[in-house]
Amino acid sequence: MPLYQNLEALHRERKKYLGNQCGLVPTMGALHQGHLALIERAQIENETVWVTIFVNPTQFNNPSDLHAYPVRLKEDVDAIHKINPNIHVFAPSIKDMYPKQVHAELHACNGLDAVMEGADRPNHFNGVITIVSKLFEVINPNRAYFGEKDFQQLQIIKNWVKTANIPTTIVPCSIVRENNGLAMSSRNELLTKATRAEAGFIYKTLEQCASNGMKKEAIYDHITNMFAKHPTFTLHYALCVDETTLKEVAEVNALDKQRLFVATSVEGVRLIDNIALK
Ligand code: PAJ
Repeated sequence: MPLYQNLEALHRERKKYLGNQCGLVPTMGALHQGHLALIERAQIENETVWVTIFVNPTQFNNPSDLHAYPVRLKEDVDAIHKINPNIHVFAPSIKDMYPKQVHAELHACNGLDAVMEGADRPNHFNGVITIVSKLFEVINPNRAYFGEKDFQQLQIIKNWVKTANIPTTIVPCSIVRENNGLAMSSRNELLTKATRAEAGFIYKTLEQCASNGMKKEAIYDHITNMFAKHPTFTLHYALCVDETTLKEVAEVNALDKQRLFVATSVEGVRLIDNIALK
């Protein structure tokens, strides 16, 4: 079974496939259908697929969030190998990825980290780029797959790859949702059943905002009203932004690529979602 739990084993195997087109899917595990969709896409587009499972401590700015993060390596490996038993899984230790100190390097993100998740979670994106750059270094992928669920992360990684001249194509993948519309996330399983069902209102609200040609102020009002009907959900932000700059738009229009983002917390769990504005 191609599972490597240390760098030495990874290096040894990776060398065998240097002539093949290689797709990388970085994850923190507790895999759900959203992750598996990325893996399936990578499987179609590459000769070898490498999935990494590593709960990266440097991107968590809250120790309780890190400790609560679900871990289940065996189930994850089984789910990946159900797609294809030849997919390579790299699940390193913290010592492998951070041999000296568990520390996030500083990265210039062109201001993309100044808003939304970057503003609410200081150093989060430095931690993300730190680990993604380490994974790119050891796997050296032709393509790497990232979900639009974490759209800000995707844009920051695209910007980093471009600025640092990294020869990897970043492939964006659409958001996979639960039946009630809630964006799939490893954190959803930390919610009670009732709250998970109730959380479907988040996407329904986004859809109403995106499909009714609403103005920016009307969107913000609608979101405030909808969250007022679900008082256990704390709204951290609702923002209409330009997809490329991630800056708030002056007004919503159908010409530019714009997106609506929300972040909320309920039962101590942070949930984020976004939708394209048409
Ligand atoms: P993680 O949250 O495990 O997500 C791994 C990848 O799966 C990310 O690219 C994320 O956007 C994507 N993903 C998660 N839920 C999704 C959904 N419902 N639909 C589509 N894609 C989804 O993101 C991380 O891990 C980490 O920050 C990581 C990039 C691995 C660096 O540690």
